[in-house]
Amino acid sequence: MNVPLLDLQPQMTRFREEILQAVTDVIDSTRYILGPRVIELEQKIADYCGVPAAVGVSSGTDALLVSLMALEIGPGDLVLTTPYTFFATMGSIVRVGALPLFADVDEQSLNIDPDRMAELLAADQQGERRIKAIMPVHLFGQCADMSKIMDLAAQYGIPVIEDAAQAIGAECPFVEKDGSVHWKRAGSMGLAGCFSFFPSKNLGSVGDGGMVITPDPDFAEQLRCYRNHGAEPKYYHSHIGGNFRLDPIQASVLSIKLPHLERWHQQRRANSVVYHDLFKQAGLVGDPVVLPESAYRNAADAGAHDFHIYNQYVIRVPRRDDLREFLQSHSIGCEVYYPVCLHKQQCLADHGYGDLSFPVAEQAARDSLALPIYPELTDKQQTYVVETIARFYRS
Ligand SMILES: Cc1ncc(COP(=O)(O)O)c(C=O)c1O
Repeated sequence: MNVPLLDLQPQMTRFREEILQAVTDVIDSTRYILGPRVIELEQKIADYCGVPAAVGVSSGTDALLVSLMALEIGPGDLVLTTPYTFFATMGSIVRVGALPLFADVDEQSLNIDPDRMAELLAADQQGERRIKAIMPVHLFGQCADMSKIMDLAAQYGIPVIEDAAQAIGAECPFVEKDGSVHWKRAGSMGLAGCFSFFPSKNLGSVGDGGMVITPDPDFAEQLRCYRNHGAEPKYYHSHIGGNFRLDPIQASVLSIKLPHLERWHQQRRANSVVYHDLFKQAGLVGDPVVLPESAYRNAADAGAHDFHIYNQYVIRVPRRDDLREFLQSHSIGCEVYYPVCLHKQQCLADHGYGDLSFPVAEQAARDSLALPIYPELTDKQQTYVVETIARFYRS
């Protein structure tokens, strides 16, 4: 049996005609840059996330970059973030001339640990304050602990840019200033929430695309200006921005897919339940296979919320690399997200990060493995995946 890590074909087959028509409409319209299709998608994503404004951009990476630019983060500044994420989180920080300041991750969620953040923020108070932004990542489709992170941000007066590239539609219980608790969507709690529409995301385009959402209409205007070379009005450049515009072809494809997003999230969650049951029946849970646990499963009212959208289903296992090879040799797609923590990346070697130690993140880089979780995955395929893993550990 063949079980790819991700199969986009079923979605494409289902929406092929609609998508081709939408692409044709854009071509026939001769409006190829921004325009009504981008504006329409921006409004739909803003509504979906419960914020007033959204700005369509060229990728998730550019969503992060344009947010940092609009905050005028630059040389001499630090951005507090996680060492265990996709490279773009850090790449965007270094590209504006700032440097990342890493806080280790939480053992269970693998999201940035607010206790470690608090230590770094307190230490930063002692000299000239250098931390100018906080960039938590909602890894694999589960929100970081945003109540605690936003508390810290408020205490130190530092803006938060949420890297929600993997987490559109994920929710977490959020404690408001008056103590009331509301479920909020990834990206909607900080000053900026950045999404990626890379094809493998739960909401994926047919190329690159991204979006920044924000509760602040003035910041949205800043983002629009930076998205278009910092020009306002045309040919008058108050800032140096870039060409970070979302393509209307991608916007129209995303508008077709968006109404189906909740169903796809539900199917991924249902697949996670199937995995849980299968691993349990096989006697593998805990030892040797640690399953992903939702940080919010026990929160009041949790069942009603898509708190985890399982962009990736990541298990933790001993002999990870051997298991990976074994699965691949049995036609089962799997992937390591991520084999090298950001502080160990060669491109940072000259910046003195190599000697730092983030034990929780480093352990995750050694033992995490993503299994197929896409919506159309069948029970039979999941059974085959778990049986093959059981065979590996029995041999
Ligand atoms: C956590 C994270 N941040 C940023 C990005 C960058 O998004 P894009 O590939 O759309 O530039 C990704 C994409 O994989 C991601 O996973």
